[in-house]
Amino acid sequence: MIYLDSNATTQVHPEVLEAMMPFLTDHWHNPSSGYRAAKKVREAIELAHEQVAALINASPDEIVMTGCGTESNNAVLAFLANQRGDKNKIVTSAIEHSAILRYADALVESHGMTVEHVGVDSDGRLDLEAYRSALGGAAMASVMWANNETGVIQPIAQAAELANDAGVPFHTDAIQAVGKTPVDVKETPIDFLSISGHKFHAPKGVGALYIRSGMRFEPMLRGGGQEQGRRSGTENVAGIVGLGKAAQLMKARLDDDHHAGIEKLRDHLETRLLSEVEGVTRNGSLEFRTANTSHLSFAGCEAAGLLILLDEYGVQCSAGSACMTGKQQPSHVQVAMGISPAQAKSSLRISLSIFTTQDEVDAAVEAIQKAVNKLRSVQGGSGVGPVQVFTSD
Ligand SMILES: Cc1ncc(COP(=O)(O)O)c(C=O)c1O
Repeated sequence: MIYLDSNATTQVHPEVLEAMMPFLTDHWHNPSSGYRAAKKVREAIELAHEQVAALINASPDEIVMTGCGTESNNAVLAFLANQRGDKNKIVTSAIEHSAILRYADALVESHGMTVEHVGVDSDGRLDLEAYRSALGGAAMASVMWANNETGVIQPIAQAAELANDAGVPFHTDAIQAVGKTPVDVKETPIDFLSISGHKFHAPKGVGALYIRSGMRFEPMLRGGGQEQGRRSGTENVAGIVGLGKAAQLMKARLDDDHHAGIEKLRDHLETRLLSEVEGVTRNGSLEFRTANTSHLSFAGCEAAGLLILLDEYGVQCSAGSACMTGKQQPSHVQVAMGISPAQAKSSLRISLSIFTTQDEVDAAVEAIQKAVNKLRSVQGGSGVGPVQVFTSD
């Protein structure tokens, strides 16, 4: 199978697995224990903090290990809601992941807060003027660094500075950016930043939260006081070690500009599809996007049908829109970008990883061409009946 769904998840890097293994076998002790064996485990956790911090130019004590990216996002929103004082508004974008949107909805229910979803332009980038106006009287602002569907990178430096000028705490969901594009928390006044390991070759079930030094933070999980009291619970040691190792590997790649190779492959894939297949449209900003993501629409083909055929032909990717119970609904991201429902229903998200090869990309182009031709030859363009298709984020 050719895997082109790396924004959903990535495979664990062999060197990450190798680093983790001793902490699943010999070094299984509780890091909080007093004997020497536990010290080795504690040291491994400390190293992971250093490695994750280095990837985003933070200090190790600004990093809190969490159970996933969703937890990092939720924990920040929960804290900021609890210390909101008389400010009641959450400012976010219309294209956030559900790990922000659904938690904000819950805060409307539980805390009587309001949410302002700032729109994006047709390139999928935040409307900074509308965002600036929305910040008045806000308790918090949360804007994603890169979008999971389109890969479009948001104007985070400006968004963070505007929030800072307005005295509003600023969080960014950088889960689709960290490890793929340079992220430097010293360059911008970011207060909180979320990371997820499985998006860059660490295992699933481990994430991190950057909390700027000096920022107040109250944890969501209280108990044994691990992670300097900011996230209690006996540590997922092997997962944390894996996250650290993956961070180290990605930093080395980014420093050496190795991700340029992924970008070249992604561009090669797009160039071939745009020139060899009729009726293909590329969605989202070309200038500001992660190197690994391509969001394309195939006129006259329903993504649901395309995905089934592609799976049959050995290619795994995602629909560009969330489609459920046979009734395809354009995703909120595409709606916000003003993409027509027909175009949205016919779009695919293709996302590469460091393991993707040129041969795989070329074979995927052939498979996509075959699937598109087959669907177009069937009346109605879909070629399949009602099906359930979910986009994995
Ligand atoms: C932008 C974004 N935010 C949050 C998440 C959730 O991360 P996790 O799967 O680690 O909970 C994902 C991935 O699913 C994502 O792409």
